[in-house]
Amino acid sequence: MRDSEFEFIRSIVYKRSRISLGPDKRELVSARLGKRLRATKLPSLGDYCRLLKSPDAEEELGNLIDAISTNHTFFFRESVHFDFLRDKVVPEMSERARAERWRRFYVWSAACSSGEEPYSIAMTLAGALPQSPWHIEATDISRRILTKAADAIYDEDTLAKLAPTLMRTHFQRGFGPQEGQYRVKSALRERVTFRHLNLLEGEPPFTETFQAIFCRNVMIYFDRPTQEELVGRLARRLVPGGYLFVGHSESLSPIRHDLRMIKPAIYQKPFGS
Ligand SMILES: C[S@@+](CC[C@H](N)C(=O)[O-])C[C@H]1O[C@@H](n2cnc3c(N)ncnc32)[C@H](O)[C@@H]1O
Repeated sequence: MRDSEFEFIRSIVYKRSRISLGPDKRELVSARLGKRLRATKLPSLGDYCRLLKSPDAEEELGNLIDAISTNHTFFFRESVHFDFLRDKVVPEMSERARAERWRRFYVWSAACSSGEEPYSIAMTLAGALPQSPWHIEATDISRRILTKAADAIYDEDTLAKLAPTLMRTHFQRGFGPQEGQYRVKSALRERVTFRHLNLLEGEPPFTETFQAIFCRNVMIYFDRPTQEELVGRLARRLVPGGYLFVGHSESLSPIRHDLRMIKPAIYQKPFGS
């Protein structure tokens, strides 16, 4: 890949998603663009860059961000977060709910990928709040991955570590051509709304504030000013005393923010802010 092509791809990816591609990512970018060249049947990277500059580039720009970003995720990833949600956040917020006249327990999975994170939150809340209303907003920049998340169909091996009771309660087994696949049951699917959202662009399409926000394993792809901007945006969407969960490799200590660290990768919005 020529220097000028890498620079162009780097700048367009940053502009579109705020994903920051350092020089160390050159090989990764080159490998992932190889897939786009095959998909678009273009002979060279120069042609591909010309396509991205053309007026009909919109769809391919989405495919480019998809190809560059990593969607890796799994059910109950960083499981201590779900324990904390069940044992600390739910009881605390349930106590406040009546006094503060909350309509429902409301959680946002802010970079939800293929749905494993919001459905893990949903399974946790289904167990912890069997009688109370709750809902989850789940957003991602990738339209392709959101379609997969809303379909909610998972291969058997991605569910291997789930407790048998969770499997029985929340998953439907596929038969015939769907053998080896499981679908999240509609009762749980209805509790999660998937929407397209670039976390750094415009305002999220919801007005209520959240008791908890999960924004995990996406900040690592952003530079420091972008991380700061994102944490500020997320904090504004929390109720006072609400919790922000980030990935365990995403400490907020190098950036400026007003949140209080409760445990590694768990932060709380101070009361009175
Ligand atoms: C590695 S996955 C993390 C999934 C899940 N949160 C977890 O921890 O397992 C990162 C996700 O962030 C999404 N993403 C990247 N940049 C984004 C942006 N600017 N706005 C919203 N989502 C973004 C990607 O599409 C991808 O699905």
